[in-house]
Amino acid sequence: MEKQRQRRCRLVLVPLPFRGHINPMLQLGSILLSKGFSITVIHTAFNSPDPSNHPEFHFVSIPHNLSDQVISSGNLVLLISVLNVNCQAPFQECLVRVVEQQDEQEEIACIIYDELMYFSEAAAKYVKLPSIIFRTTSASTYISRSGILQLKAEGILSLQGTCSTSQDLVPGLHPLRFRDLPVSKFGIPENFLRLISNMSKTRTSSAVIWNTIDVLEQSSLPKIQKQCQVPIFPIGPLHKVAPASSSSLLKEDTGCITWLDQQIQNSVLYISLGSVASIDKKELVEMAWGLANSKQPFLWVIRPGLVDDLEWNKLLPEGFIETVGENGCIVKWAPQTEVLAHGAVGGFWTHCGWNSTLESISEAVPMICRPCFGDQRVNARFVSHEWRTGLQLENPFERGKIERAIRSLMVEKEGEEMRQRAWNLKEMVELCVREGGSSYVSLNQLVELIISF
Ligand code: UDX
Repeated sequence: MEKQRQRRCRLVLVPLPFRGHINPMLQLGSILLSKGFSITVIHTAFNSPDPSNHPEFHFVSIPHNLSDQVISSGNLVLLISVLNVNCQAPFQECLVRVVEQQDEQEEIACIIYDELMYFSEAAAKYVKLPSIIFRTTSASTYISRSGILQLKAEGILSLQGTCSTSQDLVPGLHPLRFRDLPVSKFGIPENFLRLISNMSKTRTSSAVIWNTIDVLEQSSLPKIQKQCQVPIFPIGPLHKVAPASSSSLLKEDTGCITWLDQQIQNSVLYISLGSVASIDKKELVEMAWGLANSKQPFLWVIRPGLVDDLEWNKLLPEGFIETVGENGCIVKWAPQTEVLAHGAVGGFWTHCGWNSTLESISEAVPMICRPCFGDQRVNARFVSHEWRTGLQLENPFERGKIERAIRSLMVEKEGEEMRQRAWNLKEMVELCVREGGSSYVSLNQLVELIISF
């Protein structure tokens, strides 16, 4: 990519310390580096990224002071809220130092922070630097979060009662049902409401960068732009725009690619529930027998932490490995984008994290959607009812239903139609990132804005 200017300027990026957020932030950094900017990443010592994957970035660590109790609670709402309190002072001190040490030939142009690291903004203001918010979930999720706040204020949503499991459509939020709203399963509702209110505000930021694509969110993005005082730049899917590099925190098992090489075209179901979702042992057992009974080849990621902290060989039911034999491959962590791009992969059983959803769409892989919490529910609904490139596996979660869903996606006409739609969507997404496409144009506008600061 062409360099935009002679004198470089530096950007400070502040990722939320979770894989689903670090990955897109580092991808954004790589893209902006290729546009001629220098990159400093200020990150917490908790879940810190591996600097050796990005030797061209400058990494600076700040203390987080999270107690073991908060970290092991598994309560993401609590953890993120505490991070926002604990990191504010260390971040500001760090930013002051970075500004004092800046090179005259490479002044800092702005701070780009994850929407959930909203403490960053006060520090940016303190050092008199502009800030830009980076949103790593879909625009539809943003709209539905605002919807939650409004429904709660109107007394229509209780967050504790039957509302969140209701099949009724939410007024004004097509195609979402109440049960698809991105409510939290973590802790008390008031904390969650405070968090989504904080992350939804633009405050004094100068712009919003979004890892999404115009063609996927044609109804949501214009609505948001209409309400938002500052420009919005949908420049995704970032993993397709960014020069390839690994930012994985876990070691990828590349042996599964060799196994995929031996499988028939479009025959394999790839299963992964991302980096934070967890399920209980009973669900894992139903999944296992549903898979085995479907007789479809599968590549299954069972990462430590998916079910408690147990390794997969302690979790799977007796007789399962013998039954599936060579038909299954199980790993702790896969090179997911490579897996999805492999010709043998014909379906993706996903929790519908936004990165996984974008990665699947980018490779035209139809999905079985089984969301666990938050934005995953919104994404699953859009995959199954708006883009119609997948089916949603609803409760009761049992092996017979799972087997039928797998066969429907992988070998029946319904799945074939989804695959065809997925190909059409992939082609539209490719156009967006090509020269003149919406993401391409947005990215150049973003660069112009940053240069103008
Ligand atoms: C979290 C939230 O759970 C999700 O709802 C939100 O949209 C983003 O933040 P996570 O659950 O990890 O993310 O899911 P996802 O967004 O799909 O990100 C997972 C990332 O890990 C993807 O980029 C995927 O390629 C990568 N991955 C996953 C691997 O590289 N290997 C694997 O085996 C599994």
